[in-house]
This record gives sequence, C-alpha cells and structure tokens, in this order.
Amino acid sequence: MTMLRRFRWWDVEAARALETELFPDAWSVETFWSELAHVPETRHYLVAEDDGALIGYAGLAVVGNQADVQTIAVAPAAQGQGLGRQLLDALLEEGRRRGATEVLLEVRADNEAALALYRRAGFDRIGLRRAYYQPGGIDAPDLVDAQPDRRESQREHHDDDWHRNCQLSGHHPAVAHAGHVSRPSPMPS
Ligand SMILES: CC(C)(COP(=O)(O)OP(=O)(O)OC[C@H]1O[C@@H](n2cnc3c(N)ncnc32)[C@H](O)[C@@H]1OP(=O)(O)O)[C@@H](O)C(=O)NCCC(=O)NCCS
Repeated sequence: MTMLRRFRWWDVEAARALETELFPDAWSVETFWSELAHVPETRHYLVAEDDGALIGYAGLAVVGNQADVQTIAVAPAAQGQGLGRQLLDALLEEGRRRGATEVLLEVRADNEAALALYRRAGFDRIGLRRAYYQPGGIDAPDLVDAQPDRRESQREHHDDDWHRNCQLSGHHPAVAHAGHVSRPSPMPS
C-alpha cells in the first residue's frame, strides 16, 4: 500500500537513485542534504512509500507568502496512477497551512507529463525563460502560478494553445530567484 510520510535523512540514498533515473540534471546528494537542512523552517519534503520501497518524493519551499514547488518525482513503474497528483496536493495543502498565497514552479517546456500534472491541478503559465536548462540550451522552462485571483487575469491563451504558447512568452521577474524543479539550484532560504 502506498503511503506518504516525511522525507528523512535516511531516504536520501534511495531518492538520489530515483533522481538519477528521472532527471538529466539530477540533484546531487549534497543538494538533497542542503534542502533537508531547511526542514521545517522553509522547506517541506515528503516521500511516497510502497511496502517500504521509496517510489516518489516531493518538496516545497515557503518563504513569506510565496511557496515554490522544488521537486516532484514518481518512479516510472508507479507513474500514471495518481501519485504525482497526490504528492502535489500534499505540498499545496502544506503551503496553504503555512499561509502561502502564491505557489510557483518551473518546468521544462518539453516535459509533457509534468505540464499535464500541473495544468490539471490548476496551474497556469505566467512566463518563460528561454534556453534555461543546460546542457543543450534548447529547453525553456515554464513558470506557473496557482494563485486563483491571478489565474484569470494572467491567462493569455486558450487551453488548447497552452503547450505551444508556453514557448513564446517572456520572463516573470517575481520568480527569477526561485530556481528549481527540473531543475535549477534550490531557492535560497
Ligand atoms: C511528472 C510526474 C511527477 C507525474 O507523476 P504521475 O504519478 O505519473 O502523475 P499522475 O498519475 O498523478 O497524473 C497527474 C495528471 O497528469 C496527467 N499525466 C501524467 N503523466 C502524463 C503523461 N505522460 N502524458 C499526459 N498526461 C499525463 C494525468 O493524466 C493526470 O491527469 P488526470 O488526473 O486528469 O488524469 C512523473 O511523470 C515524473 O516523476 N516524471 C519525471 C520527473 C519529473 O519530470 N518531475 C517533474 C519535474 S517539473
């Protein structure tokens, strides 16, 4: 049975193994440690376990009224069964609990699964930075925001155009510092 629980230091090794499997720009062990060092002050990290095996993890940073989804990962064999959404919902719930009024994240514009996950959860694009992810320089990250009040006013395109147009927009200075998720360096505490 799958359960969510707090990410503890002894999960780093298994998380790092999954990280390497899932991300071309995988976080190092040191990055995991650095993130966990800020729990609980400005970070909230969870793992998903199935019969004792780590099959996913996710992390949130909250500073002031702004939350940033730092990472979400689900093991390939467990994907497509709602776990990513479950992890995301748990992060959003924690953000609300901590008083965040805005949730931001960055995602590669070519990451169809993640884009689908975030869009279905109500996120919208608010900006784009070109050639942000390296190596390659061809991928541009999307910045999305789940703040309901801003959602309608900032919606620039019809949903059907969302994927195409997410590669055509500009930059949102409010999240310029927020590096992460697929994945720049962690947001400063
Ligand atoms: C992105 C990721 C976390 C999604 O996890 P998941 O457990 O497979 O997602 P879920 O099963 O909860 O699906 C959530 C929604 O996204 C959609 N979705 C998930 N994968 C999809 C895919 N490959 N193509 C299209 N839609 C997809 C689902 O249909 C679902 O929508 P629905 O509830 O309306 O049906 C997972 O694919 C993953 O770990 N990818 C590699 C790491 C990564 O890219 N992380 C995100 C970094 S920004």
